[in-house]
Amino acid sequence: MPPDEISPPDMLGAPDATLLWGLRSPCAFTCPHCYFGTIEEHKQQGLPTEAGVLSHLSRTDLPLQTLKAFARTLAGSRVERVVIAGGEPLDWLPTLEVIGLIKQAGCQVVIATNGVPLTRPPVVQRLIDLGVDGVSVSLDSADATVNDRLRPSRSGRFGYHDVVAGIRALLDARGDRHTPRVGVYTVVMRERPQEITDMAHLANQLGVDYYVPQPISLAPDHRLFSALTHRREDVPAVAEQLCRLYDEPGGLALPAPSYVRRFIDAISTQDGGHVPDCFGGSRLFFIQPDGSVWDCPSDRRIAATPSTSRRSIRDADARVLFTDRPACTNCTLFSRDCVNMWPLVLDMPRLLNSGAAR
Ligand SMILES: C[S@@+](CC[C@H](N)C(=O)[O-])C[C@H]1O[C@@H](n2cnc3c(N)ncnc32)[C@H](O)[C@@H]1O
Repeated sequence: MPPDEISPPDMLGAPDATLLWGLRSPCAFTCPHCYFGTIEEHKQQGLPTEAGVLSHLSRTDLPLQTLKAFARTLAGSRVERVVIAGGEPLDWLPTLEVIGLIKQAGCQVVIATNGVPLTRPPVVQRLIDLGVDGVSVSLDSADATVNDRLRPSRSGRFGYHDVVAGIRALLDARGDRHTPRVGVYTVVMRERPQEITDMAHLANQLGVDYYVPQPISLAPDHRLFSALTHRREDVPAVAEQLCRLYDEPGGLALPAPSYVRRFIDAISTQDGGHVPDCFGGSRLFFIQPDGSVWDCPSDRRIAATPSTSRRSIRDADARVLFTDRPACTNCTLFSRDCVNMWPLVLDMPRLLNSGAAR
């Protein structure tokens, strides 16, 4: 449909959709559990060819002009919020141009980063000047040595201390402004339930605004599945940690208390489950660095997507792409991947509006 025939925004209702946009594939970290796999694996075995499987190799990443053309179409679309991830979005400076266009289109922007780029003052200043709404920084352990084992950098030169320095630099540069809100995201693995509260303690010490511990999600054939993925017998220790966190959050905004139930449900079962009112494909969409659009990043949902339903942001208009998408009222593909989506879609307003406590 040509742009002048597109319904005006008031015909579409208030924007209510979240895009999780994996903008670029490369990352200076080589976390062995990463959704993107590791670059070493893909150099040895070749780029994955199955639809929806990610890689840190950037051969199929869309060019900047295509990303910008799509970002310009967000104005007047159903998109309320864009969560920019990757790969590492802030190691590629053109990301800042794309963010500028998304903000001009009137959408909220939240960035998921490994935190190291925040040690570069010009990057921090641009994030503030662009009015970025939230910056979610990944740290998987409050212990520097453990974190750097779980999240090693490729060069071995960066790690925990840079990430903490980056968080401090962003908070300092923000000063008394309300934005960007700064959060910590922690992947909780079976060997270390204590990170749930240890990280909250660290985040409180740093003066961070929000905190999201999320369960590790690995495919059953992943080489680390049995070492890192929770089993039924791990549930009591995780539940105890989550209860302690919600009893004493300090100044941190957390996902709504219902998140605890979802977290526990997800790690209690290997066999999937049922989501009565799933927002994937109606209020949530996942865009990969090659431009593919999926209902959500769940590997189960991607695998279940018929090839006839595949879509791309390449030469597409957001005002058309995300319109008239009925909610799935009976998804049977619940997995650990899903748990990580609730904070992005339903909890983000409370995470970003945090601050009364600080
Ligand atoms: C893929 S990273 C991309 C953004 C950025 N480079 C970063 O490090 O945050 C986005 C988030 O996904 C998390 N993540 C990666 N692999 C995961 C997995 N298998 N299960 C759960 N979370 C995972 C990361 O820890 C990070 O918080």
